[in-house]
Amino acid sequence: MAPSEQKALPVPAHIGIIMDGNGRWAKKRGLPRTAGHKAGAETFRRIATYCGEIGVKYLTVYAFSTENWKRSEEEVSGIMRLLDRYLDEALQDLDKKKVRACFYGDLSRLSPELRKKCLEIQERSKDYELQVNFCFNYGGRMEIVQAAQRFAQEVQSGKRAPEELTEALFENYLYSAGVPDPELIIRPSGEQRTSNFLLWQSAYSEYVFMNVLWPDFSPADLDAAIAEYHRRNRRFGGV
Ligand code: IPE
Ligand code: IPE
Ligand code: MG
Repeated sequence: MAPSEQKALPVPAHIGIIMDGNGRWAKKRGLPRTAGHKAGAETFRRIATYCGEIGVKYLTVYAFSTENWKRSEEEVSGIMRLLDRYLDEALQDLDKKKVRACFYGDLSRLSPELRKKCLEIQERSKDYELQVNFCFNYGGRMEIVQAAQRFAQEVQSGKRAPEELTEALFENYLYSAGVPDPELIIRPSGEQRTSNFLLWQSAYSEYVFMNVLWPDFSPADLDAAIAEYHRRNRRFGGV
């Protein structure tokens, strides 16, 4: 597809990205894994800015999974430090960047200081347009289980009846309540699996797997993924 042709096609309103490949990027360079995460955080800043420029409304990024705690203490604390730095910077530039930041995940396992910053930025940015959903200590299965627990509690307290539950109602209990499902999910790094990302929301998403490591991912790669998305024939079960 010629670039001019692609520009004319609508940009997906919601794009999900599994930001994978930081460790391999660092290893290739003989650097510690945390250097890969640092480079990946810079790529995230660049891609989020680009998404705003091309008119994406929602960007959901997978930054840390419920399974990533299995990694070394050194790697996990390095990732926490990067999150902390990003939050400080985002809090400072809130009015300049105009990004609405939301967190998908169980923040209760983060340090109280980090959690407080996450909630503060979420609250202070809630009127901005480009919504970036950070999946941090996120797991798709955990999200569904927690939603089921919350619904069950409402049944127990008499606020809801079991037969009221529909797909549309259930969505209100997910982190993504009110956010349309992603049309496109991109996974760089060459892996071809969901790794527990947006299990409910991705039922009809188009997956694009790319052979580039996240720190090397560029706006041109995003354009290529969007072009691939436009070549897909979305049927939603119809013909
Ligand atoms: C993604 O990159 C970042 C996190 C999961 C936190 P990885 O750290 O998984 O990088 P690879 O897959 O080992 O290359
Ligand atoms: C998925 O990547 C999680 C993030 C990118 C945050 P992983 O690297 O953790 O996934 P697996 O282990 O390859 O499935
Ligand atoms: Mg990985």
